[in-house]
Amino acid sequence: MSAKSKLSVVILILSVASLFAGLAFAKQDPEIKQCSHQCRVQQQFDEQQKEECERRCEEYHREKKEREREKEHGFDPDRKLRECQSRCMGQAQGEARQLCRFRCQQRLEREEGKRQTKEHQEEEEEEEQEHNPYVFEDRHFYTATKTEKGRVDLLAKFTQNSDVLRGIENYRLALLVANPKAFVVPNHFDADAIFVVTQGRGRISMIQEDKRRSFNIETGDIIRVRAGTPLYLINRDDNEKLFIVKLLQPVNRPDHYEVFYGAGGGNPESFYETFSIEILEAALKTSRDKLERFFDKQGEGAFLEASKEQIEAMTSHEEGGEGGGIWPFKSDSKNPFNLFKKRRPSKSNKYGQLFEVDADEFQHLKDSDLGVSYANITRGCMTAPFFNSRAIKIAIVVQGEGYLEMVTPDSGRRKSGSSYQKISSRLRPDTVFVVPAGHPFVTVASTRTNLEILCFEVNIENNVRYLLAGEGNFVQQFEKEAKELAFKTREAEVERIFGNQDEEFFFPGPRQQRTRDYE
Ligand SMILES: *[C@@H]1O[C@H](CO)[C@@H](O)[C@H](O)[C@H]1NC(C)=O
Repeated sequence: MSAKSKLSVVILILSVASLFAGLAFAKQDPEIKQCSHQCRVQQQFDEQQKEECERRCEEYHREKKEREREKEHGFDPDRKLRECQSRCMGQAQGEARQLCRFRCQQRLEREEGKRQTKEHQEEEEEEEQEHNPYVFEDRHFYTATKTEKGRVDLLAKFTQNSDVLRGIENYRLALLVANPKAFVVPNHFDADAIFVVTQGRGRISMIQEDKRRSFNIETGDIIRVRAGTPLYLINRDDNEKLFIVKLLQPVNRPDHYEVFYGAGGGNPESFYETFSIEILEAALKTSRDKLERFFDKQGEGAFLEASKEQIEAMTSHEEGGEGGGIWPFKSDSKNPFNLFKKRRPSKSNKYGQLFEVDADEFQHLKDSDLGVSYANITRGCMTAPFFNSRAIKIAIVVQGEGYLEMVTPDSGRRKSGSSYQKISSRLRPDTVFVVPAGHPFVTVASTRTNLEILCFEVNIENNVRYLLAGEGNFVQQFEKEAKELAFKTREAEVERIFGNQDEEFFFPGPRQQRTRDYE
């Protein structure tokens, strides 16, 4: 992700903060402080980027205030010019001041130009994206770690754009991509995690108490990693990248976790080296210069390249996994657990397949009150519209394209006085969407590709999926009188409508797909 998009992440954080900020003078404004603070703590920024970021905070803030004023008083170019030029007074002398005033004029002209050419439709589109706090795209991820051999992208907080997702503010989502033969150096983090392998073949080693547990992992494997477990990872494939989706539940701070690297070398910085040298000398019972030489190896980041021989040696002996091996603790015998193997999909017809982990099969998920499922919607087809009674669904598109429609309460109750608002969004690989409990929604695969979606369900215990159409839809349970009263017509008519679709869960999609709107 470019520095620019990192900046826009910061700016987005600012725009949330702005909801709470009143009118205050620019410098003392808590919103700017908050934004500047965000700039300062971006570890991946160098000093210059931090300054640039802070400058953008102020600029953004000023422009926003201007927009607000414009909304209230209309656009007044003269006033704007006066204001801009008066800012020059405090800043500069002589020629510099002239230049500053000239820039004001130029900027204003540019703005007016933009105002005239900007198409109405474009504005509407932006508006829709800005006001859709349920969908997250590329621009909402920022790079937490990156080397030539791989990367970790972290999704913005779920509450970044709005507080409608406060119920899952304690979760973070991250994507790990490791290139062929990459070695992810030993690390631990202060979050409980569920890893799901969405593509590729790897091997993970975790140190659990005084045992090492290593196993090969492949597409569909779900791995529970308890907070603080030291682990390392390799992509054991020569050609294919390894993709892992991580759902993290931080333990120290609700919405933030830290990764601690315990390897040698300055990059990534090793926590060993943070201790003072006297402490290391005593703790490792080794002299200072030996230690300095030992730790002073230039690293190439958190992802390194392993040789073919190293990978072969590490993967040659299969331990643990699938319940066997030397791992002594029974309770862990099913870690990892594969979504696709040795089991039938819980829903399946020619329009799609749904794989679900049964909580009793994989105790780890039950412990964290989480569900994991995977929908493979055949191209041109759709899921039944439904809602979850208690579970909040965090979904990420693994492959393919399509779109989503969801019913949400219309908080503004604008237009037509309707209480609901339709949220729709195109779905592409890595699009993340959240469906709160009780919210009816549907997903549709494009006519060109299957749509494959990995879902985490938070609060899965006692969750019921209520289908709104097709075999098993909930209306069919109503008694005759309730049907007639609810739908204001004869029962036979209600039956005809709600009994007509006899497929279960996956259906042929709309004849006229809206995907075109999203291209
Ligand atoms: C999804 O379905 C397609 C077509 O049936 C199949 O090729 C693909 O392997 C399936 N994906 C998974 C993860 O099962």
